[in-house]
Amino acid sequence: MPKSVDLPLYLDNASTTPLDSRVFDAMTPYFLEDYGNAASTTHIFGERAARAVKESRQTIADAINAQADEIHFTSGATEAINLALKGAYFAFGQSKPHIITVQTEHKAVLDTCGYLEEVGAEVTYLPVDSEGLVDLDELNSSIRKDTLLVSVMAANNETGVLQDIKSIGEICKSKGVMFFTDATQAYGKIPLNVLDQSVDMLCFSAHKIYGPKGIGGLYVKKGIQLTPQIHGGGHEFGLRSGTLNVPGILGLAKATQLCLEEMEEVSTRLRKLRDDFETEMEKARKIKVNGKNAPRLPHFSNFQLLNEEAESFILRNRNKIAVAQGSACNSALVQPSHVLKAMGLGDKEGENSLRLSFGSPHIAKDFINKKLFKLFN
Ligand SMILES: Cc1ncc(COP(=O)(O)O)c(C=O)c1O
Repeated sequence: MPKSVDLPLYLDNASTTPLDSRVFDAMTPYFLEDYGNAASTTHIFGERAARAVKESRQTIADAINAQADEIHFTSGATEAINLALKGAYFAFGQSKPHIITVQTEHKAVLDTCGYLEEVGAEVTYLPVDSEGLVDLDELNSSIRKDTLLVSVMAANNETGVLQDIKSIGEICKSKGVMFFTDATQAYGKIPLNVLDQSVDMLCFSAHKIYGPKGIGGLYVKKGIQLTPQIHGGGHEFGLRSGTLNVPGILGLAKATQLCLEEMEEVSTRLRKLRDDFETEMEKARKIKVNGKNAPRLPHFSNFQLLNEEAESFILRNRNKIAVAQGSACNSALVQPSHVLKAMGLGDKEGENSLRLSFGSPHIAKDFINKKLFKLFN
């Protein structure tokens, strides 16, 4: 890595965020001093770890208006998604094998649904309109007598487009089907309220909110008995065995608390940064924004380059900015974006699209846009 002064401007916060130093400080004691196993409460080391986990669980539950024992820690959102979808299907799929999801979901949802199809599930993949939004009437009419659950993400990881999860939750509730939302990008960025939004299961991940990698969780509404996917010592209310990642859990809770406290200020400032950037760039006919007319997360900008190929832009500016092309957080491979394709973009338009995701380290850098504009042809 070059020295930090030489590092490119990091505009890939949707992929992962840097760790907030306040989160790091909250975690450190749980590596060095309070290193007990949270399940070994016969001594003070375990007791202190267990107490910290209990408080963290409460912080996270409060953040989404859930109860503490409805929160289950996992290694991240991918695992939480697997637990939600497989756990529900293996528990209830015999009588209700039908699942509804959307073509623009994250691969963690799509590939898990693909696997469930191989073992007997029937999955409906709903289309989206040109802004990336699901048609609620179509969703409503797709629900059948044997529909087990509806899985619709809160915010898309490529475009930041927000689905109307409150209305989707109401539809599901009225039809008696479970509603799972992948809130990995939305958690800590917009208010979430599982009761108000009628959500039965919701996943989140610390590394998208300035927390550590390798920790996340799943909210499961009380009364839903999923089939566990990892068996062992019966941790996490019997749903996910394995010694708890205490420093990670503390980090997730601290990052959650900071995001909630700073949400309004951060989103106002990032929205302005993003909107100024898009307005200026569109005025100069350099870009066309994807999903522009849909409600979006304030720090996302996904756009087609009009005067240059995305690949050559990335190569040319490799030392200046870090941005994403295609579905960059799926793997090391850049694949054509299934999200942009579902929104009706052609192969070329999809290939020529970039995602910029601003982060809270940028809010102090008001000069950022001046530097940015110059990089685009
Ligand atoms: C919407 C969405 N779902 C799921 C994931 C997977 O999250 P994790 O990296 O915590 O497994 C991501 C991140 O890549 C995401 O953006």
